[in-house]
Amino acid sequence: MAGIRIEHVTKTYGSLSVLKDFSLDIADGEFVVFVGPSGCGKSTMLKILAGLEEASSGTVHIGGRDVTDMAPGDRDIAMVFQNYALYPHLTVRKNMGFGLKMRGTPADVIDQRVANAAKILGIDHLLDRRPKALSGGQRQRVALGRAIVREPQAFLMDEPLSNLDAKLRVHTRAEISALHHRLGVTTIYVTHDQIEAMTMADRIVIMKDGLIQQIADPDTMFRRPANLFVAGFIGSPGMNFLRSPVFDRAGVPTVRLFGREVALQASASLVGRDIVVGLRPEHIAAGAGPVTFEVQPRLVESLGSEKYVYLDVPEENRTQVARIENSDDEERPTDTIIARLINPDERAIGKHITLSFDPAHLHLFDAKTEIAIQ
Ligand SMILES: Nc1ncnc2c1ncn2[C@@H]1O[C@H](COP(=O)(O)OP(=O)(O)OP(=O)(O)O)[C@@H](O)[C@H]1O
Ligand SMILES: [Mg+2]
Repeated sequence: MAGIRIEHVTKTYGSLSVLKDFSLDIADGEFVVFVGPSGCGKSTMLKILAGLEEASSGTVHIGGRDVTDMAPGDRDIAMVFQNYALYPHLTVRKNMGFGLKMRGTPADVIDQRVANAAKILGIDHLLDRRPKALSGGQRQRVALGRAIVREPQAFLMDEPLSNLDAKLRVHTRAEISALHHRLGVTTIYVTHDQIEAMTMADRIVIMKDGLIQQIADPDTMFRRPANLFVAGFIGSPGMNFLRSPVFDRAGVPTVRLFGREVALQASASLVGRDIVVGLRPEHIAAGAGPVTFEVQPRLVESLGSEKYVYLDVPEENRTQVARIENSDDEERPTDTIIARLINPDERAIGKHITLSFDPAHLHLFDAKTEIAIQ
């Protein structure tokens, strides 16, 4: 096991800058998730760690050794990819032991490690089958087993669950977390799914266009997003954004949202600035509250125990923010916000509906820089 240190890594392909000054310290035994939209550089960073790509500049240390110029095979790490790349003509047992055999590990050691890993993963009864006789989830476990038997200093996993159906993905996600608790091996896990990041990570590294946006534990990432991008990416449905200038009302910085004046719990120096106010869908409630407004919902979606109410944003509150809606890399229109109502009273959800929020739940961002205002 080992810590990993990445210092000022950049990567360019011709004129395309894919990683811009990536630095990160990962503690021994930590589970770190790289998350971000497609093309932000996650796989590239992982490949540089594995030695499958060369950094344009910067250094990588694994377990205190400078591995920047080391061949992949000498780095003592194991990778698990989205496509499991199992050998179709070999049994599960041989697939799992193949890497060790290539390294000249004695047969009895291989047998023992394969048996051990198979037991941990619950695939000991499948050892004599070939990959085509396995389900997707079982194949993914074999791919994990192949990494485990190596007993590496670190695991690097690139979207290992994305070929599985939704149910199996949730199940295998929990299995990987349990495995990490059991083995305690430093792991970097790449995904574009914020829910995987939130549920699995000790720390999340959120990236956009080759730049780290924030490094934090899941709770901090959710409660104190560093900028609009992080705020919109983490959480589902994503945070709602409303634009307003800040004006002065008897010495208190105030915005107007849904036609209501809302006093901000913020410094008076905000007066005169243009800000974007963030409000999570679950922080809008049915019925009256500290700030109450009436709306005609555009659409109400019922999900059983909760309802998503889609609301038109008044012209004056519309933002220019291009928002990426977490998992699907999809942009959400800025003229709509969502209220997520848990077990609302059916009688309250009609043509007109009374909603409210508490200003204490508002997140404030500078409209120009998109950086959170503390
Ligand atoms: N060999 C290459 N030559 C040129 N450009 C490349 C090469 N490999 C990757 N890129 C570009 O680098 C950028 C980052 O790619 P990368 O694979 O790291 O993204 P990613 O974050 O893993 O995305 P995804 O979620 O889609 O897997 C992309 O714009 C991609 O097109
Ligand atoms: Mg990728």
